[in-house]
Amino acid sequence: SDFPVVVPAAGVGKRMGADRPKQYLLIHGKTVLEHTLLLLLAHPRIRYVVVAIDPQDPYFDALDIADHPDIKRVDGGKERADSVLAGLQLIADQDWVLVHDAARPCVRHDDIDALLALADQHNGGGILATPVRDTMKRASEQFPDRVDHTAPREHLWHAQTPQFFPAGQLRQALEQGMAKGLPITDEASAMEAAGYPVQLVEGSEQNLKITRPDDLALAEYYLSRRTT
Ligand code: CTP
Ligand code: MG
Repeated sequence: SDFPVVVPAAGVGKRMGADRPKQYLLIHGKTVLEHTLLLLLAHPRIRYVVVAIDPQDPYFDALDIADHPDIKRVDGGKERADSVLAGLQLIADQDWVLVHDAARPCVRHDDIDALLALADQHNGGGILATPVRDTMKRASEQFPDRVDHTAPREHLWHAQTPQFFPAGQLRQALEQGMAKGLPITDEASAMEAAGYPVQLVEGSEQNLKITRPDDLALAEYYLSRRTT
């Protein structure tokens, strides 16, 4: 079967420090957001994309993709979770849904395939992630620049997107987490807090989230080498 995607794209890109939100910076003459949306729609099992855009955003409507028949725009919100919830309003509760950051234009189709396979495995949804490679230090609470201990890295992963869950469960988990004032930095954190299982599917480090200026050049490099 085919799946819908929610793409939160209503952030301001504070850490990037550019003159516009990072999803509108150009790579090979095309915005990061267009790269992300077109890459998702090129996947054979993706049906349509709901993209959450800041209602004040002056950039989106000027893009060619604004009129794409498989792209639906909704108003984003204050936090990422608000933007995702707005997008979920357009997705039927019984569907499985992918949520993917606008700022990750380099996700690979075969990694999406591996994630989508969770829908047939009856162990719940999950996320793309990569194992941590560096030695990880936990700082002391009292002295934030002093090591308290070394955290064993074999059980640590970097969470990426897409994140893939039953839409009804995800909506309930996000609403519950927000009502409780939990810090929800990704869909999985809301699902974990609500007691749902979250599977880790190993992805690729190419699937970086463009966050700081150096990341743009790296994404450009990855996109120049790829075929899908
Ligand atoms: N996002 C969103 N709505 C928000 C905040 C973020 O839709 N209120 C989106 C961003 O557009 C991005 C994704 O969530 O595609 C991941 O967020 P992040 O990388 O933190 O982007 P920004 O919040 O824009 O960046 P920063 O935190 O540096 O300001
Ligand atoms: Mg942010």
